[in-house]
Amino acid sequence: MIILGIETSCDETSVALVDNGITILSNVVSSSSELQNKYGGVFPEVAAREQARLMIPVLEETFSKASLTFENIDAIAVTVGPGLIGSLLVGVETAKTLAFVLDKPIIPVNHVLAHLYANWLKPHLQPKFPALCLIVSGGHTDLLLMENHGKIKILGQTLDDAAGEAFDKTARLLGLPYPGGPSIENIAKNGNPKAFNFPRGMIGSKDYNFSFSGLKTAVLREIKKINLPSSTIPNLAASIQEAIVDILVKKTLIAAEEFKPKSILLSGGVAANSRLREKFQLEIRNSSLEIPLFIPSPSLCTDNAAAIAAYAYFNYHHQPWKRIEAQPSLGY
Ligand code: KG4
Ligand code: ZN
Repeated sequence: MIILGIETSCDETSVALVDNGITILSNVVSSSSELQNKYGGVFPEVAAREQARLMIPVLEETFSKASLTFENIDAIAVTVGPGLIGSLLVGVETAKTLAFVLDKPIIPVNHVLAHLYANWLKPHLQPKFPALCLIVSGGHTDLLLMENHGKIKILGQTLDDAAGEAFDKTARLLGLPYPGGPSIENIAKNGNPKAFNFPRGMIGSKDYNFSFSGLKTAVLREIKKINLPSSTIPNLAASIQEAIVDILVKKTLIAAEEFKPKSILLSGGVAANSRLREKFQLEIRNSSLEIPLFIPSPSLCTDNAAAIAAYAYFNYHHQPWKRIEAQPSLGY
């Protein structure tokens, strides 16, 4: 079954063709993040205009790369939320139009849960249930226990900033470009992660919730110190990254000890972070946990339509196009 996936929740315009939820036939992602950099973050109206400008060229490129036509698709999957309303509307209305004209089923997709399905886009190695899932993106830091497709229990969430937001906000304080995660990761390569001992919010709490707002305040306090040499920026970046990574790894592995899942899945933009990937692998190896760790390739961690199509294949709840609408605040 070939599913056409469409993703436009924020500043990435992405269209993909995925076979049976696991094989990517093509996955085109075009981002307006460089343009957003001028504004120091995502400027919703600019993001929406860029979505409208890019949608048809991205759609065309996706079909051309897979050497397929509209007739070859079996269904259409589209992100309906959460996200920016102007951006979401471009994808949702495109998907509805295609479903109407081509008379194909349409599956509404929750963007946050779809991130997890990047882990299914590996034809030879599929996650087993129950799966312990960490979704770390610009808007979410969620630790979930997934007993099956569509059967999810929330173990913990961030009480304030999301992990990606912590990267973005602290990068901005350091004068680094948006998106902050890759900027911090890059400059952190030349820094000492032990130079600053930033707070690890809620690391010892008895629950699985997260908090990153204290980190931002601590970084601001350092930056305000007079005569801070610019050579300190790599040390600040490395120490920020280490603090965020420490919290995410520690809490996830405590949950793994408690729930004894059959797989651990990472996903979302922050899962593209090489220190996070490395530390998870290292800590699992050093523990008595013998649980396979799944991390999508970095390009499938950030927003992409292949994950949207994969989600739709495994959660095939199609609806009449008339009932599909953008839901900016969609929850679980
Ligand atoms: O999943 P995503 O592409 O979009 C949302 O659904 O939010 O995640 C974007 C977030 C941004 O906050 C960005 O700074 C962060 O993921 N990010 C990273 C890296 N790449 C993207 N954070 C840390 N290291 C990275 N390499
Ligand atoms: Zn996302």
